[in-house]
Amino acid sequence: DTTLGSAAAAKGRVFGTAVANNHLSESQYASTLDTEFTGVTPENEMKWDTTESSQGSFNFSSADAIVSHAQSHNMKIRGHTLVWYSQLPSWVSNISSSSTLLQVMNNHITTEMNHFKGKIWYWDVVNEAFNDDGSRRSTNNVFQQKIGNSYIEQAFITAHAADPNAKLCYNDYNTDGINAKSNAILAMVQDFKSRGIPIDCVGFQSHLIVGQVPSDYQANLQRFANAGVDVQITELDIRMPTPASSANLQQQATDYSKVVSACVAVSRCNDITVWGITDKYSWVPNTFSGQGAALLFDDNYNKKPAYNAVIQALGSG
Ligand code: G3I
Repeated sequence: DTTLGSAAAAKGRVFGTAVANNHLSESQYASTLDTEFTGVTPENEMKWDTTESSQGSFNFSSADAIVSHAQSHNMKIRGHTLVWYSQLPSWVSNISSSSTLLQVMNNHITTEMNHFKGKIWYWDVVNEAFNDDGSRRSTNNVFQQKIGNSYIEQAFITAHAADPNAKLCYNDYNTDGINAKSNAILAMVQDFKSRGIPIDCVGFQSHLIVGQVPSDYQANLQRFANAGVDVQITELDIRMPTPASSANLQQQATDYSKVVSACVAVSRCNDITVWGITDKYSWVPNTFSGQGAALLFDDNYNKKPAYNAVIQALGSG
């Protein structure tokens, strides 16, 4: 039978999903994951507040559980995420010395990457470091505030040293079309390439709104590919007001199709990851009240119109 994973594989792509360890014990959750998907991103389990909640004391147990599930089903694993201003324990936010913070950041990267060495397909080394206007995100971002712009390249240099075989990504949202933010990230990639700073990939989260896929989505992916990095769609979802209308579910199908077709048209786009399996557990309603229904399976694991549109866009409909 055709699945998201098999259809993507026929095009040489991985079709992944965010996974939360606490849901793996639900049989329908696990069986949908195992049947449909060929890639996994731990939704929260590899983040700093989970893996190093107090200084120097590392806990990888919930991430290990996802990794072992994924490995036993031959799924690719995206490591998410090593350096991010959010979901950062307060002991890190409270560090006042830049040299201490740099040491702490490097130790976190090295320890986490060593733990998972050889098991991770691509790592999100730095997440969400830019504002929508293309400036560096400084608000609530202790790394930017204390270390300055160079924290990003320091993180990539450290990650490359920790595991020279690992593929290293920069990951962000609202970068899905050609705009000030994606321009700034492209300029960073070009600068890194020109100075020999290791970067292999840019992740486009693609937390989208129904009816609003940027018209230059594919052109944007392509210009990054042309700059010499792989491109990945890392956190795709397309939200709408709930309860979902059938018109919006149809529009969502069209929208998913556009995103998937864009990835298929760009040879360096090798991964499409949706940010969750079922609408039931999506992050969207918790953040955008009155919105949701953003994924490919509804609350009862029924396939939505967008599911069939994705299969078709992958050439298997
Ligand atoms: O684990 C606790 C639980 O013990 C507690 O009872 C509950 C009460 O609120 O909170 C639980 O933690 C929540 C956690 O998700 C696990 O469900 C946090 O409050 C909540 O903030 C956290 O949200 C996550 C969010 O990142 C945090 O920024 C979402 O699950 C996760 O989907 C979301 O993912 C991010 C990507 O990492 C980066 N890009 C944007 C994307 C969406 O925000």
